[in-house]
Amino acid sequence: MKIQINSTLATIPPSGIRKFFEIVAEQPDVISLSVGEPDFATPWHICESAIATLESGNTHYTGNRGTPELRAAIAKYLATKFALRYSAKEEILVTNGGSEAFDIAERAILNPSDEVLVLQPGYVMYSPLITLAGGIPVGVNFGKDWKLSIANLTAKLTSKTRGIVINYPNNPTGNTFTQAELKALAAFVKKHNLVVFSDEIYAELIYSGKHTAFASLPGMKSHTITISGFSKAFAMTGFRLGYLAAPAEVIAAATKIHQYAALCANTVSQAAALEALQNGEKEMEKMREEYQMRRDFVVRELKQMGFAINLPAGAFYAFPEVKTKTGLSGEEFALRLLKEEKVAVVPGNAFGEDFSSYIRISYATGFSELEEAFRRIGKFVKSLKK
Ligand SMILES: Cc1ncc(COP(=O)(O)O)c(C=O)c1O
Repeated sequence: MKIQINSTLATIPPSGIRKFFEIVAEQPDVISLSVGEPDFATPWHICESAIATLESGNTHYTGNRGTPELRAAIAKYLATKFALRYSAKEEILVTNGGSEAFDIAERAILNPSDEVLVLQPGYVMYSPLITLAGGIPVGVNFGKDWKLSIANLTAKLTSKTRGIVINYPNNPTGNTFTQAELKALAAFVKKHNLVVFSDEIYAELIYSGKHTAFASLPGMKSHTITISGFSKAFAMTGFRLGYLAAPAEVIAAATKIHQYAALCANTVSQAAALEALQNGEKEMEKMREEYQMRRDFVVRELKQMGFAINLPAGAFYAFPEVKTKTGLSGEEFALRLLKEEKVAVVPGNAFGEDFSSYIRISYATGFSELEEAFRRIGKFVKSLKK
């Protein structure tokens, strides 16, 4: 018998990032600027607390919502760093990464055919997971210079619109919202009574000014489901640890799904995450400074090559438009660059169908590799002129 696969799943394409990553994995000597994963090793004291947990024999389930110690530490961290007030007991759920957090938030909220606005270009998981939750993702493009466009959002509103996904600092552009944009968005959310799925996983990796959490804006806590995690700022991707912070009724609903689908987040990783929150800020700050230096280098190089690019405010990505200068689409550029110079970047169409003339460059790569990658990109771009 051929086992029939879920028909909704059949309509969902594989992730454009992973697709490229797999081509790269088959080729030796490639410098990869394609994955959004810190190149830094997880700070050793964080690993040590994971090891100590194993050594003490604490390899059992935790409560569904995560350990009380970790939830208390997350609540304290959110309060001191982002002026967010969440009850550790009722308003925080520890998950297997920001990915699971987003998935169960959608499943907890959406009814069949509810529409969710998704700002684009945007991270690859949003639309597929909304679809799998029974909802309908509705792409809405940012305006010029990746600014929020209330006009674009309004044009996509229908009587079925339930929510909006935002992500700032943004993957793939690195852009973030200004105070004026946040204020305008909050007014829009209030007027249309929307739920905000706010993915703030890059909140700590911001290079000028401070991150303003969406739920900290006046009146927005009751509208907002905050998604975050430890993968990026603490260089802990493999620990698979994230969380949801949201009003108690949302956390209760999401916990129902989490308790059946995951039971609890990894116990060893929860101990590591606790250590990260309690003692990890110094290393985080050092990594942030290093990313900032790389960002400046990447933007300078791209500008020198003649590409139009805004200065990314945070995260570790640059998203230049390549077609105007080279005549190549993002996909052609990426494939040829990989073949001819062995440098991997991700075509822009992985982040929304209207972005086929862009590429995403991740600078979560050691500086000397980054320098060599840009030497090769420069050579490639020059070769196109002949
Ligand atoms: C914007 C954004 N959200 C969420 C995630 C997923 O992170 P996690 O490792 O916590 O599942 C990523 C990973 O690249 C991301 O870029």
